[in-house]
Amino acid sequence: MHDAKLPRERIDELHRLNESRPVKVVAVTGGKGGVGKTTISTNLAISMAAAGRDVMLVDADLGLANVDVVLGLHTRFHLGHVINGDCRLEDAIVTGPHGLQIVPAASGVKRMANLSVAEQAGLIRAFSDLYHRVDVLVIDTAAGLHDSVITFTQAAQHVLVVVCDEPASITDAYALIKVLSREHGVQRFQILANQTRRSGEGPSLFQKISRVCDRFLNVTLEFAGSVPYDDYLRRAVQRQSAVVDAYPASISSMALKNLAARADKWSVPQGARGHLEFFVERMVGARIGPSTVLQ
Ligand SMILES: Nc1ncnc2c1ncn2[C@@H]1O[C@H](COP(=O)(O)OP(=O)(O)OP(=O)(O)O)[C@@H](O)[C@H]1O
Ligand SMILES: [Mg+2]
Repeated sequence: MHDAKLPRERIDELHRLNESRPVKVVAVTGGKGGVGKTTISTNLAISMAAAGRDVMLVDADLGLANVDVVLGLHTRFHLGHVINGDCRLEDAIVTGPHGLQIVPAASGVKRMANLSVAEQAGLIRAFSDLYHRVDVLVIDTAAGLHDSVITFTQAAQHVLVVVCDEPASITDAYALIKVLSREHGVQRFQILANQTRRSGEGPSLFQKISRVCDRFLNVTLEFAGSVPYDDYLRRAVQRQSAVVDAYPASISSMALKNLAARADKWSVPQGARGHLEFFVERMVGARIGPSTVLQ
């Protein structure tokens, strides 16, 4: 792939520079619909971009897209076009707040929810061909347990599971963790409590999930924090902007910015794990290249 706007030599040079820059890849998932995956991934990505990182947000919600809607962006191409071969991945990227690079998903395109394994793998590999500077890749996954959710989550190094304190959310999060750990080799999970309504709710929700996972699964869970229920967040959605930008002093904004600051300290990959992964070439490059590892 190469961009007509940039000369081949410049693209090759950018590729060489990127080889020694590992990318932190965070998949935001949760099992149940409507728990806040898009809200968390969008605000996390924007907060990290505002803090100076080069961030790319991928809307991998292949059935019903909404990152572009949430942010009021006008998009020409989306992942559906990339998969159909109508455009290249770089053509689909749009720039959002704070220079955030966004890859929009196809809205309501049914075929997108039923990608073949080869198409999913092709999509993941297409990211390796990008010459864009990326420190952090945030992936907003769809609800449920279908193949694309599993593939994209497995291909990330950090899995952020968004959970609300209600039985359906807890059950679905457990089912997701179970499938990913037993069948796909994902053993570490960050648990984020969303829409909490009292202090202490997040840690106790984490305890609930930990207890059942410790009993039946071979996994390591970490508590990524809580984001309180906040009407300002809903108002921000109506204004088609992220709450961290629209209402920076609101309680949800503070929590989301704290999450971003913590996520910035999560480790970057040290080497490939042997299955399909985003930016795997950059990991291999990072091991032999100069040390530019983020904190
Ligand atoms: N902390 C919060 N406080 C108040 N409202 C919230 C909070 N988090 C999410 N919401 C609201 O809940 C609704 C669902 O959120 P969101 O779209 O982020 O969920 P989702 O998990 O991405 O859903 P889907 O599974 O449909 O993709 C939205 O209206 C959003 O504004
Ligand atoms: Mg969503």
